[in-house]
Amino acid sequence: TLQVVLLSGGSGTRLWPLSREAYPKQFLPLAGEDTMLQETWARVAPLGGAAPIVVANEEHRFLAAEQLRQAGAPTPAIVLEPTGRNTAPAIAAAALQAMAGGDDPVLLVLPSDHVVRDPGAFRAAVQQAMPAAESGALVTFGIVADTPETGFGYIQAAPGKGVRDVLRFVEKPDAETARGYLDSGDYYWNSGMFLFRASGYLRELERFRPDILAAVRAAFDAATRDGDFVRLDREAFAGSPSDSIDYAVMEKTGHAKVLPVDIGWNDVGSWSALWEVSEQDADGNAHHGDVIAVDSRNSYAYARRLVALVGVDDLVVVETDDAVLVARKDKVQQVKDVVARLKSDQ
Ligand code: GDD
Ligand code: MG
Repeated sequence: TLQVVLLSGGSGTRLWPLSREAYPKQFLPLAGEDTMLQETWARVAPLGGAAPIVVANEEHRFLAAEQLRQAGAPTPAIVLEPTGRNTAPAIAAAALQAMAGGDDPVLLVLPSDHVVRDPGAFRAAVQQAMPAAESGALVTFGIVADTPETGFGYIQAAPGKGVRDVLRFVEKPDAETARGYLDSGDYYWNSGMFLFRASGYLRELERFRPDILAAVRAAFDAATRDGDFVRLDREAFAGSPSDSIDYAVMEKTGHAKVLPVDIGWNDVGSWSALWEVSEQDADGNAHHGDVIAVDSRNSYAYARRLVALVGVDDLVVVETDDAVLVARKDKVQQVKDVVARLKSDQ
């Protein structure tokens, strides 16, 4: 059986000022009419399977519950983290929850803040990867790399077709290494979506990061249950080291496999990525809300009030109730520095 796991604990700081700690991007309708969390569920709901397991921060429990209810998801189990410890512990908690009833389902682990333009192709890929996952592989979905992006994991796949062995998995290489991988042509980006048996993940975590598994197990065993909410024990969970699945398990395991996919994937990691996935007019401008563009090109504007662009190229303008961002489109990665500065001024 298939068990969908929705990771919903990120804070999306590079999409400031829209994405905030109290209201991160997965809960916003950034790339469509529904929120990114809702679209993530809608994308995989046709695969069948039970209610999803959501792993989210305690602070976002009502947002997550309400949005999934609106999206028509069967009552999910919502595992609540008192504090973020990154994805390795979050997925461990989901795996323990999935196995609590005595089953060992295949987990489809999904970030809740990605865009997939061809959901049908994605569902077909999940079905194609099922047999490998059922027999113990940790499968990831590979994306054809086209820029030397340093914010991704890189996967060297064994030659062949379909689901292949991973020869090497390198999380977030430096720029020079990333360029080398890109030029070599046999690396894929890790999409950050995974398919594996709950027990298979826990076994590999036990092997490489027993400290993380022990802390999460203690937090899960001492969890309090309140309706659909599973509240991990605060003290025990805080005792877990913070690490991502990519560093903790995927770089190290000998059981990784990759299925290259062509599904219109984008992780919407920045304002320029959002511009890329948005509908653009003949001048390459994209916008959300009330925007007038005159003699301007390749710009993105997000407006709550009326915003006008005149004679500007490659600009990002984001206007919200309490903040305005104006940035060059090729510098939007540095938006996270604004957030860091705001935090240190607090
Ligand atoms: N519940 C929970 N708790 N979810 C979390 C936490 C946490 O502590 N931290 C992150 N997440 C969620 C985020 O909301 C996001 O949906 C997903 O897990 C991945 O986390 P990111 O922080 O966005 O990871 P990344 O973008 O740096 O890197 C990952 O994704 C890339 C593709 O977008 C890696 O898997 C890379 O290898 C991959 O290329
Ligand atoms: Mg991400």
